[in-house]
Order: sequence, then structure tokens, then C-alpha cells
Amino acid sequence: MDRRAFLKTSGAGLAGLAITSCGGSRGMMSSGLQPSLNTGVFQRPFFTPPELLGTVDPNTGNKVFNLTMQTGTKQFTGQGATNTMGINGSYLGPTLRVTQGDVLNLNVTNQIGQETTLHWHGMRPPSDMDGGPHQVIAPNATWHATYTVDQRASTNWYHPHPHGTTAAQVYAGLAGMMIVDDVETADLDLPKTYGVDDFPVVVQDRDMNADGTFSYSATHMEVMQGKKGNTILINGVIDPVLDVPAKEVRLRLLNGSNSRIYNFSLSGGLSFKLIATEQGLLAAPISLTSITMSPGERAEIVVDLTSQLGQQFTLNDINTGYALFQLNVSKAATVATITPNTLSTSLVPLQRNQAVRTRQFILSMGQGKVYINDKQMDINRIDEVMTLNQIEILDIQNTSNMDHNLHIHGVYFQLLSRNGALPKAFEAGLKDTVYLPPNSRVEAIVQFSKATIAGAPYMYHCHILEHEDAGMMGQFTVA
Ligand code: C2O
Ligand code: CU
Ligand code: CU
Repeated sequence: MDRRAFLKTSGAGLAGLAITSCGGSRGMMSSGLQPSLNTGVFQRPFFTPPELLGTVDPNTGNKVFNLTMQTGTKQFTGQGATNTMGINGSYLGPTLRVTQGDVLNLNVTNQIGQETTLHWHGMRPPSDMDGGPHQVIAPNATWHATYTVDQRASTNWYHPHPHGTTAAQVYAGLAGMMIVDDVETADLDLPKTYGVDDFPVVVQDRDMNADGTFSYSATHMEVMQGKKGNTILINGVIDPVLDVPAKEVRLRLLNGSNSRIYNFSLSGGLSFKLIATEQGLLAAPISLTSITMSPGERAEIVVDLTSQLGQQFTLNDINTGYALFQLNVSKAATVATITPNTLSTSLVPLQRNQAVRTRQFILSMGQGKVYINDKQMDINRIDEVMTLNQIEILDIQNTSNMDHNLHIHGVYFQLLSRNGALPKAFEAGLKDTVYLPPNSRVEAIVQFSKATIAGAPYMYHCHILEHEDAGMMGQFTVA
């Protein structure tokens, strides 16, 4: 189905009208001047980033990963070359694959000609290995991060986090996935053959010229509203087609965009099973027909294509009315999987009555600025001091009429409520990033179980990267 057909049948009328009335052509969904390059026709092959398993150091048994952050160029349409950045390549980076219990040695070399950092979003390393704004890597220097993977199987990602320049560096292409495996998932009958029935899906928008070139800039209005692009890419490719076998297929969705919020669905109203959110498996799969994701959030979904040989489906974004990539069920499956009805038995939810206090995070805007608890980020100020192992309720409120979210380093949390009601099942799992629509409120419960190292606080911030860079971030210690 092409995108215009999707617009007609999906009920995404508002987005469709906005697109046709201001652009006249296929789409103009940004403040930029160019129409979208998303065409609804899928001709470029889907790109699965290479998997990096690390090499085992014979002396220590540690898993060694060598990562070079570098500049490069890339043609996104076959024409004009864009100046880009990537990890071990010119755009995006490999999928790092690790197992619970591994000790990692991550050697990160900065060849991008400016200061940077590399943060392991969703991983929970000690704070001095977190890759936040305090772990600066100077140009031509190598940062040696080492830590033990002590968390559940989950889909995480890595990206730069330098103070004030994160948005531009991520936009240039510095991001990649980091997947954790564990014993619990190894034993489950889930699709798990990387690049065959288990795929990373990094969704990012870029404001592209007609030839596919782009460069990062943000006006004050774009900083306030979040930089949004006219074209949505999957793993760095516009309008890709993915050939899949007629069986269950697992998509590891990551909203890696600077600021765009998506509401994903499948064409034809096909339902899917949500099996995991940011911090790993749900207790049981949840059947959905759409899922909303704000920047930094991850969701693992299983699409059952067993009886669909010869059919095509698209992953759509209801918010823009765009079809993003095509699943072409082109081959018979050699082995089937049957996603079980019980996924995780190791989840012990924290209970409201275990919390000893409530801590507020107020996300607000005013006078052309963005704030958390009326403050802007100051790298020399500690904003919150947490007590080790204390269980707390976080009362997170967006008092502005724009979108925000909140990401917290070094922990996972669970939602207790959204706007006074119980959270919907799709966001009842373990999370590290939560979406706050305009004038909304969530309560989350959290335990700060990792003490911070001196000189290396953890961060909390809005993951709309323009907001983060503009100061919508704070620092905390745990002791
Ligand atoms: Cu994805 Cu503080 O970052
Ligand atoms: Cu993070
Ligand atoms: Cu924000």
C-alpha cells in the first residue's frame, strides 16, 4: 500500500490534510521548505547494522569493543553527498551485542574533530562509565569504559551526550543499538536470529533537501518546538523494503529522533504483540494495533506473518500519516517460533507502599527557555541527592503546552499512574524514558540501587535533544 492509500484508509485525516494543504506535493511536515522524500514506494533495501560481538581478551576474559567515532559522507538518495558522522562507519554504528554477566572493555576513539562523549542509554554502568557530559573525550583521544553488564535482556542504544552539542552530533548520525541477552530470553521461543527474524529498527527524521542532503541547524523556534525533519529514515535509509520469512518477526523499535513523537501501526490494521519496553521483557505479551514512542524510548514487537506469504505490510506513523518501511513476506520460513504467553517470571514490581517519599520533577517552559524544577542545567550544580537503595515515587509533571519526556540515567522505573489513572498495559513494564504530553502527569516508582562515583553524577533530562541542550537537564548523586 502506498502512503496516499494509507492516508485514505487509516483515518489519519488531520495529518494528511495538513500535509497536502501546505505542501501540495507528497508532504511538508516540518518547518523546513522542502517536501518530504518519503514516497510510499519502497525500493531501497533495508539496512541491518552489522552486529559487533566483541573479542574476548585472553588474559581477562573481558569482551573488548573498539569503537571509533568518525566523520564521513553519505548519499541518502543516490545524489548529493551529506557530511555525516558514524561509529566505525560513516553513518550510525554497529549493534553491540552483550550478555548479562559480561565484563565490557569499550575503547571509544574520538575522530570527529570536536569534544564528544558516548553514553550507553539504558545500560546501568557505574556513573563514571556512563558516558554523560562529565566523561568528555577530547579530539583524537580514546576513552576506556569498563563495566559489568548486570541487567536483564533489553534493547538499549548508545549516542553522544556532550554538554550543549548532543542534538547536532546525534543528528549527524552518531547512534547505534546495544542489545543485552540473558538466560531468561535465551530459553524463550521468540524470534531471535539477528537479521533473519529479529531486526533493529532505528527511526529518525531529518530535514532533507530534494537530493537527500541535510545539515543541522535549529532556529530558536525549532529549539522550543524540537527540531523535526520532513523525511523519516529507518536505520539511515529512506523508504526501505525488508524481505522477511512467513513467520513471527521481531522488530526492536527505537525512536532515535531528536524530537519527533511517533504513533506506530501496521498497514491493514494488523495487530502485533508488544513483548518488551526499555528495560526488558514484559511479564506477558500485549496485543496492540498501535504504540506511541517519544525520543529515546524502545519497544520490542512481534509481528505474526506466518500465514502471509506473498503479502506486503508497512510500518506506519499515524501522527504524520507516513508509511516508513515495507515488510515483504517473500520466503517460506524454515523454522517457526511461537511467542509464549508468559515471558518473564523474574519481574517483581515495586509497590506504592514501599516508597518512603515523593520527589517532584516539574517540566516547564517560559520566557523562551526550558526548565526542570524552575532550573536550567548547570554542570557545576547537583540538583538532587538520592539515598542508596531508597524506594521513591517520582511525580513528573509537564506544565507546558508542548511535548516533553523524562529520561533518567542509571536506573529503571515503573509507572504507577498517568493523569491519575492506572497506566495502560503497554507502558506498565520497566522503563527508563517516559513521554509527557502537554499538561500531563505521571507517577513512577524507582529504587536508586547504584551509588554514584565522586565527580560523576548521573543525569535526568528531557530527551527532546534540543531541550536537553537548552538546559532541560539536571544532575543527581546517589549515596
Ligand atoms: Cu539517551 Cu541522557 O540520554
Ligand atoms: Cu541515558
Ligand atoms: Cu522537552
